[in-house]
Amino acid sequence: MGCCHADFALTEGSDRGFTVGMPTFTFGPGVLAESGANAAELGLRRVALFTDRGLAGGEHVAKVKDSLAAAKIDVAVYDEVSIEPTDASLQAAASFAREARADGYVSVGGGSVMDTCKAANLYATQPAEFMTYVNAPIGAGRRVPGPVKPHIACPTTSGTGSETTGIAIFTLASINAKTGIISRRLTPTVALVDPDVTRTLPANVVASTGFDCMSHSLEAMTARLYPRRLNRAQGIERPVSQGANPFSDALALQALDAAGRFLVRAVRDAGDIEARTEMMYAAMLSGIAFNASGCHLPHGLSYAVSGLIRDWHVDGYPAGRSLVPHGMAVVLNNPSVWRVTASAHPERHLRCAQALGADTHGAAAGDAGEVLAGRIVQLMRAAGMPNGLAALGFGDADLDALATGAEPQYRVIKNAPVDVDRDAIKRLFHGALRYW
Ligand SMILES: NC(=O)c1ccc[n+]([C@@H]2O[C@H](COP(=O)([O-])OP(=O)(O)OC[C@H]3O[C@@H](n4cnc5c(N)ncnc54)[C@H](O)[C@@H]3O)[C@@H](O)[C@H]2O)c1
Ligand SMILES: [Fe+2]
Repeated sequence: MGCCHADFALTEGSDRGFTVGMPTFTFGPGVLAESGANAAELGLRRVALFTDRGLAGGEHVAKVKDSLAAAKIDVAVYDEVSIEPTDASLQAAASFAREARADGYVSVGGGSVMDTCKAANLYATQPAEFMTYVNAPIGAGRRVPGPVKPHIACPTTSGTGSETTGIAIFTLASINAKTGIISRRLTPTVALVDPDVTRTLPANVVASTGFDCMSHSLEAMTARLYPRRLNRAQGIERPVSQGANPFSDALALQALDAAGRFLVRAVRDAGDIEARTEMMYAAMLSGIAFNASGCHLPHGLSYAVSGLIRDWHVDGYPAGRSLVPHGMAVVLNNPSVWRVTASAHPERHLRCAQALGADTHGAAAGDAGEVLAGRIVQLMRAAGMPNGLAALGFGDADLDALATGAEPQYRVIKNAPVDVDRDAIKRLFHGALRYW
């Protein structure tokens, strides 16, 4: 264990332990066909299956349905999940869940589907007014008082890691920004992580979700170290995300190594089974890592970008609505953030850069931010990402609105290794406008 994890005495009142939660996971090609057996093993007889319209008629959902049918499990299908869910779409899903009278849940889809399924399960099993469980200070941040029903999560994208997390993210219309619900109780019971699903992924989805995965690990590695965070709730009430810890470090570095080698290959060639499989595994590792450590600035800032985007459309995502894919919003802030946070832990930023494949030979502590930012810019260009927030239509005139949009993200922003105020946030957005 690195010395930084043993110095808990440094901050009075800090936590001396960390807790890592995750589902029982199965990884491998074809494992979606194990969903029926898993449901039966959990004692389920009738499940509510969540997916989105784009996937509902496709082969991945069919494989899960066939497996459930073979295990003689009744299925009620909900395919109206909204891509990038909202409070309204989660509540619609919860109404369905209440009426479905299922004794368990199966989700087949990306982060949008898995998060919707978590929320539907929560509100159907532990009913409450919607804002009750939403993160404070936006919502009441109340603890979930008891268990929810079993959930088998089957991810079909390679990025969010939501199959491993106790987190459900959505856009709250009243503030036009993303927030979430976090509870260990939301962690899926079983995750079936089948890299076969990546064959049908459009390149843009592989790119955005791949950068989401990369950023989860970078944020896990550079988050405030858990012994230096004042986690007031300890023991059984310890928060899901507690700051960087040795377990999240190990998984994050392994995932960064994969992202550095395989992300661009996976985007460029749908037939590159090795690259797509490695990214699917990396996404799962990153999910376990950031769930325990928490995210920080790149995600916090991205939520303002997602909320304020106007007239932006990306192939592979639903048409007819302006939408910046989550991973794209996250990576566009990345280089700007690392240039600032590196001063807090230069050696950690350099380890990340090295894991991603940068040449760190001879790099001094003062170079860490630039070396990491430079490697990410290389990957962004190779994977066809836009050149910063300016490419999405943002400019200097939007910095105030962006900073205001990021303010509700205090929960994640305070997990950054450096303290940032409103002016610092504006500078971070300014630094993210253009990279090349
Ligand atoms: N809960 C968490 O821990 C967590 C972590 C990160 C992100 N998120 C959230 O997840 C959401 C984003 O999820 P996402 O990036 O996985 O994408 P998504 O679920 O929004 O799906 C994106 C698009 O890809 C399509 N798609 C999904 N799988 C496919 C496949 N195998 N083949 C073809 N098309 C496919 C979908 O139909 C959709 O059009 C955001 O709301 C984000 O905030 C949650
Ligand atoms: Fe994310």
